Amino acid sequence: MKLMPHVYQVAGVSLSHAYDAAAYLIEGTEGLYLLDCGTPDGFEAIIGNIQKLQFAPEDIRAVYGTHGHYDHVGAAVLFKQKYGCSLCLHEEDVRQVEEADPVKTTAEILYGRAFPPCQVDRRLADGDTVEFGNGIAMEVLHTPGHTPGSVCFALDCAGYAFLVAGDTVWGGFSRQIGSDEARWRESLEKLTRRHFDGYTFGHIGANVVADADARLAEAKRQFATYYNPWFKPMKETFRYN
Ligand SMILES: [Fe+2]
Repeated sequence: MKLMPHVYQVAGVSLSHAYDAAAYLIEGTEGLYLLDCGTPDGFEAIIGNIQKLQFAPEDIRAVYGTHGHYDHVGAAVLFKQKYGCSLCLHEEDVRQVEEADPVKTTAEILYGRAFPPCQVDRRLADGDTVEFGNGIAMEVLHTPGHTPGSVCFALDCAGYAFLVAGDTVWGGFSRQIGSDEARWRESLEKLTRRHFDGYTFGHIGANVVADADARLAEAKRQFATYYNPWFKPMKETFRYN
């Protein structure tokens, strides 16, 4: 699904698998890049989505992960094995992904899955910049809180300021995964000091939120209103009686 020139959404609840967080494909001049990459459960559907857009998955050069959770980077090892791309992640979430921590990656506690361990090829740091070509540039913003190594991606898409927020906006809070309220509040301050034309977050449908500054300010105001939204793991079903 095309969001803007050279930027596509290829994963998410309505696009690939119920377990997948939203993932985005950037068409650079030297190849393709993913911002998050969904779960192994959604892997085949995500590949199908990329092919339906007339792109070749073999051209994927790198996966940039917003953080080390199953729904965001669980499929990274499959992309690496099949297409030889690299995984880029913030230092503070590297260990849980390389060691397949069943709790910190949320794989077992939320999804009842084993996290497929994956070597991280490049550590992301706050302020890193990437030039994709085709008028698209990206800045990495370290935004800890949901997890210690959570980052957001601030994209400049030919003058359109687009934020890929991962779970830093509307993500779940749990001390089991290293969530930290004080760091998270600082991260939301950091985001709301900047201007964005549009933004998206991990658990959104196939959408870009167009009034980004107002909605990010609202997310900051409402932070901790639903302090523990993980009422149940995804692997369980609600009982209504
Ligand atoms: Fe998460």
